[in-house]
Amino acid sequence: MTQKYVFDRSILKDNIQYVEIKSPIDDSVIGLVPAMTKKDVDSAVWMAKEAFKGWKNVPLNVRADILYKAADILLEHIDRLTDLLMKEVGKDYKSANSEIKRTADFIRFTADTAKSIHGESIQGDTFSGFNKDKFAMVTREPVGVVLAISPFNYPINLATSKIAPALIAGNTVVFKPATIGSLCGMELVKLFQKAGLPEGVLNLVTGKGSEIGDYVVSHTDINFINFTGSTEIGLGISEKVHMVPLLMELGGKDAAIVLKDANLAFAAKNIIAGAFSYSGQRCTAVKRILVVDEVADELIGYLNEEISKLQVGNPLEKQVDVVPLISTKAADFVMELIEDAKEKGAKLIVGGKRQGNLIYPTLFDYVTTDMRVAWEEPFGPVLPILRVNSVDEAIELANRSEYGLQSSVFTENITDAFYVANRLEVGTVQVNNKTERGPDHFPFLGVKKSGIGTQGIRYSIEAMTRVKATVINLNH
Ligand code: NAP
Ligand code: G3H
Repeated sequence: MTQKYVFDRSILKDNIQYVEIKSPIDDSVIGLVPAMTKKDVDSAVWMAKEAFKGWKNVPLNVRADILYKAADILLEHIDRLTDLLMKEVGKDYKSANSEIKRTADFIRFTADTAKSIHGESIQGDTFSGFNKDKFAMVTREPVGVVLAISPFNYPINLATSKIAPALIAGNTVVFKPATIGSLCGMELVKLFQKAGLPEGVLNLVTGKGSEIGDYVVSHTDINFINFTGSTEIGLGISEKVHMVPLLMELGGKDAAIVLKDANLAFAAKNIIAGAFSYSGQRCTAVKRILVVDEVADELIGYLNEEISKLQVGNPLEKQVDVVPLISTKAADFVMELIEDAKEKGAKLIVGGKRQGNLIYPTLFDYVTTDMRVAWEEPFGPVLPILRVNSVDEAIELANRSEYGLQSSVFTENITDAFYVANRLEVGTVQVNNKTERGPDHFPFLGVKKSGIGTQGIRYSIEAMTRVKATVINLNH
């Protein structure tokens, strides 16, 4: 059993208000972060604005070298950061460790990719009435000060997926991590600084989103907002800002569609891994199954078998798949969905049990469209099965969601796979795989209430730059 961590309060300053960061595993205080004031926010944004003047002119190869160094430092500290990630957001060892490795790869790939993004020149004579005397040199310019707001569930990776592409493109950054996750956020900023980022290029803002969020998003010197989090907060931000470009990764209700010719054992293995890893606290978790009735019983047999293999418990004690949820509020919400499904007649196949914030992997059959769990994002370990009579009914139900992040389709028939994929209103369709984000250079986006704009390394760099055309007129 790992020792309970006791935070050393002697280092705190009297004139600063702090927010306690408590581990979701045992509620112990593992650290404190400053509850920044509006004045602190002003100062962070001002620093970023000033630093932009120099950073945008730093040669790309120099910016890239700083990123490569940051990736190296991240890996040098992988053990300590894995430990912090596990304690701060309750992640299991394997997921926490792979988050750090994936982030180092992300940073390197970002630097490599930026070096291969070139501008173009466009000849005037391709448009009627113009000749070769006129041509446009098209380059990409940084947008300025990027506000990066990250969620709790990938405090290192989803922060870096905003920060690294923003920096390599010549932007400066104001970074507001999720409060639970801000100890990881502080470490991330420190390591980028250690890698050689000039002062003011990356600035941390900590404190509760409910207290400083509105102020920071509405700040007039923010030129771009890159946000990942819930649809509720994302919508709120989009209502508050004006003429500021937004890149948003929001909620999801990813469906796994299982057709009658699917390899059911394979589909079940994928679906369970996709639904329950890190207790389903992933935007891309499989959040509902739409299965053709004829094969539903057989699929449930395999799903049950896979669920029985899941390890549940305290990630500090052993390697587990299902961990305590991030907060009591989150666990209460998941239990509400479970109770609602029970009351409305869904058949509980397994789970439904709660111990503190730990909810056992829960599978419901015969979920109907009047049940909340059919539509709401639990961000927890509950998986509803909706039986359908046809492929078209599966597509209709999949598309009836307000979300449109990803969907999976399991079938052995490529024609059917395309039939479904072509009709799904989502950012990504996975054929014969669980829904998932990686590899991180693939485009990643949500439609409808799942987001605005496209992420993915090259796409993120492009999103946080703007095109500039310099038109040369030779016959002046
Ligand atoms: P959240 O509650 O929406 O918080 C996200 C971030 O917004 C946090 O940094 C939060 O800070 C901040 N925030 C809160 N109120 C704000 C305000 N008024 N103005 C500006 N910022 C504010 O989401 P979460 O619980 O961390 O993450 C879970 C959600 O994120 C799920 O819905 C999930 O689907 C979504 N998500 C989506 C993706 C994707 O790629 N589509 C990826 C990961 C997660 P505080 O922590 O201080 O409140
Ligand atoms: O929570 C959202 C993450 O972007 C999901 O990434 O599919 O690799 O777990 P993942």
